[in-house]
Amino acid sequence: MLCKEEVRSPFHRIFQNLKFYLFFQKTVNFVYGGLDNKIRNLLSENITPGSLALDIGCGTGEYSGISGGKCLSIDLNMKYLSYAISNSGKNHVKYLCMSSSRMGLQDGCIATVYAVRLFHHLSDDDIRGTLREVMRLLKPDGKIVFFDIVDPGPGKPFLRRLTLMDRGKYVRSFDENSKLLEDVLGEAKEKRIVYFSGNPFPYGLWTFSN
Ligand SMILES: C[S@@+](CC[C@H](N)C(=O)[O-])C[C@H]1O[C@@H](n2cnc3c(N)ncnc32)[C@H](O)[C@@H]1O
Repeated sequence: MLCKEEVRSPFHRIFQNLKFYLFFQKTVNFVYGGLDNKIRNLLSENITPGSLALDIGCGTGEYSGISGGKCLSIDLNMKYLSYAISNSGKNHVKYLCMSSSRMGLQDGCIATVYAVRLFHHLSDDDIRGTLREVMRLLKPDGKIVFFDIVDPGPGKPFLRRLTLMDRGKYVRSFDENSKLLEDVLGEAKEKRIVYFSGNPFPYGLWTFSN
């Protein structure tokens, strides 16, 4: 895993500023060659339409309620949630301020759980805690979809350095992410794990079905 402690991003604090955050998201989308649409397509392909979905670490709600069905969207950052509530115009989405490792929701009520670019913000222990919560909330035939950026690897030092500018402290390799997820979700009936080499940055998609 990339160690963030020594190489702190000069932009780290500025991300608390909503305007900068939105600008950065747009820049990332551009640098990754239209990543936004790719994420939307991947989510749409995987979310069961019309059923209750849960978007964990929703940020400003970019991918909340993407299937058109009801959606609960959670995040720790009240600023981002307030922006989503005022600007998204998505009446089928309910935004809640809570932590992914302790979501005060009913057992077995969610059909699809998804998280976009959340895991590189969570320590290994927080990911395990989050996955246990996800399993508790998921319906018996539920689906899990995770999308995240991954470490470009030591062979690409410049891209690695740019990756470190993200606020997430825990940018893992694709294999490290896969291992963590499979350790907890290995019992799932079906799984699909896809590495995208990206252009120029790599990312990964992990989907599991109960
Ligand atoms: C990179 S942003 C991604 C936002 C959105 N999913 C997207 O892709 O545009 C990561 C988000 O995860 C949220 N977050 C970090 N740790 C969290 C936690 N433990 N529980 C809930 N949200 C968390 C942050 O506040 C931030 O909004």
